[in-house]
Amino acid sequence: MAEARPRVWVSQPLFGDIVARLGEHFELDAATDVTIWSPDAIADRLHDASGALVTLNERIGAGEIASATALRAVANVGVGYDNLDVAALHARGIVATNTPDVLTETTADMAFALLMAAARRVTEGERWLREGRWTQWSFDTLLGHDVHGSTLGILGMGRIGQGVARRGALGFGMRVLYHNRSRLPERIESNSRAAWVDLDTLLRAADHLVLVLPYSSATRHLIDAAALAKMKPTATLTNIARGGLVDEDALADALSHGRLAAAALDVFEGEPSVNPRLLALRNVVLTPHVGSASLATRRAMASLAVDNLIAALGHGPRAGDPPTPIGAPAAGGIPAKR
Ligand code: DGY
Repeated sequence: MAEARPRVWVSQPLFGDIVARLGEHFELDAATDVTIWSPDAIADRLHDASGALVTLNERIGAGEIASATALRAVANVGVGYDNLDVAALHARGIVATNTPDVLTETTADMAFALLMAAARRVTEGERWLREGRWTQWSFDTLLGHDVHGSTLGILGMGRIGQGVARRGALGFGMRVLYHNRSRLPERIESNSRAAWVDLDTLLRAADHLVLVLPYSSATRHLIDAAALAKMKPTATLTNIARGGLVDEDALADALSHGRLAAAALDVFEGEPSVNPRLLALRNVVLTPHVGSASLATRRAMASLAVDNLIAALGHGPRAGDPPTPIGAPAAGGIPAKR
């Protein structure tokens, strides 16, 4: 009798042709519809799985893996992995992987799309026009703030932050400042045309601040009322990292009282719910966590996650050596909350 093949759980529908590669090695338990998984349902799917391919929707911690005695690998489709309790996985000898690099440029593009939309009031103008409020061209309609030649502030200078920096410096002639817990090597600073400053200086000097840092308990609400109070009233804030980095009520206060010109948010603390105070404001651009959502990049992410899982479970050309395991903290580190 043929030996049973290891079972692999795929939590959400991804590209069928890419997921099918898992079927060459494993028995597949793949979701066919977008599904909201409760912690109990996740534990149930993991119970006799050897591997799992999950998205940021699925929180995998000690509770979810408690009875998953066969589990050897969890592949996250995404560069951010705050949905995984990596310490709990590692303590059980379970390999965790993510999908860095393949989404860097696409996400940096989106940061710029959002920054520009906020600074030049693009979505606000579109809504205004659709509401039939444009009765005559006038000189002072929807005056925004320049992007070219302004100061770009980047908080979190990993690969995506460096991509944002290059776009700002080379494409828009911006002065680029960044803050990271540790200063990057001179070669990277010079490739990115960026100068390190402390967090206080970054907040005060930036005309356009972009958040690109990992989320953890140390960075929760890093941008709170005190941080926002240091920013210029003409500045914009763009968040393409994780919603929990920003105290959304404090942001809504600053935006509604003219203490910050505009914000652009692709991520939210309670997503998919969005703070109703933000929904009510005109000077905030809101998108549904689509920073890496180009077709080519989402295919590359799915493909890398599949490669990781196959290799972590001891199959394929890189058996035992998954391309992008999660080990030490992400390059550049997490700036300390202050
Ligand atoms: C990421 O890769 O972290 C994105 O937020 C999508 O998962």
